[in-house]
Amino acid sequence: MASDYVLGTHQSELERLRFQHELWSPISEAAWTRAGIQRGQRLLDLGAGPGFAAADLAARVGPTGRVLGLELSADYAAEAQALAQRNRLPQLEVRQHDLLKDPWPNEHFDLAWCRWLAMFLPDLEPLLAGLERCLPIGAQLLVHEYVHWDTFALHPQATAVARFGQACQDSFRAAGGDPDVNRRLPSLLSARGWQIEELLPLPVLGSQGSMAAQWMERFVAVYGLQLQQLGLWSTTDQQEALGQIQAAASDPGSFWVGPTVLELRARRLEP
Ligand SMILES: C[S@@+](CC[C@H](N)C(=O)[O-])C[C@H]1O[C@@H](n2cnc3c(N)ncnc32)[C@H](O)[C@@H]1O
Repeated sequence: MASDYVLGTHQSELERLRFQHELWSPISEAAWTRAGIQRGQRLLDLGAGPGFAAADLAARVGPTGRVLGLELSADYAAEAQALAQRNRLPQLEVRQHDLLKDPWPNEHFDLAWCRWLAMFLPDLEPLLAGLERCLPIGAQLLVHEYVHWDTFALHPQATAVARFGQACQDSFRAAGGDPDVNRRLPSLLSARGWQIEELLPLPVLGSQGSMAAQWMERFVAVYGLQLQQLGLWSTTDQQEALGQIQAAASDPGSFWVGPTVLELRARRLEP
């Protein structure tokens, strides 16, 4: 059920994802270039959300290529389909699909893109098995997932923001996920015969007013409310965190550091 997804799919979360994609766009584009994504290729986008990355990928592969996005939330899948129509991308299709329960498509792809999805899955086995079904020998998997959530901070001294980071991680674990899932994925893939071709840390940090700072401030504002509904955060905690963010705004030397993403690129080998 889409309602089980811990970040939610309300309008402010959708707008947060849009902004997040914009911030991360140069990083993902560079990763797609490193992976050699080109016109005519067939790509799978796992947990595609409202389709921002999927639309950019569809533009990259062009009308002779194909991008299939699989997304748990029916609302997000509909948003992504509407985006495909608005941007005239008939090569993009996004389907409502539960990667843990629904049968994976009976179709082969050159590459699967997976960003901020595996961290929410209580069971990685359906993901690993599904990849083997849809990616033939020689195809690639490109993953951007967190490897070290503990780097999330507003320096030098926002203690309530640090507690917020811990509460976020608690919420992901309580929903069955693993915030640092990319510590485990390379080894799990390697054991199943994948060749690990790239492990690249992707740190994000930013001083006051930067896009990176706005991304993290927005996350505290939006997810702080969700954490309160989950009983993992209080209104007092939220006020304290927002107060520290406000105080840091008058210190030009303060800066944010995001949770560290690890780029993982793997290729399926002959068994
Ligand atoms: C943080 S969002 C990331 C969206 C997109 N990958 C991006 O990079 O902008 C995580 C997405 O994973 C989806 N998701 C979570 N569990 C899923 C599942 N079991 N099957 C398919 N999608 C899932 C959520 O609905 C959500 O859209």
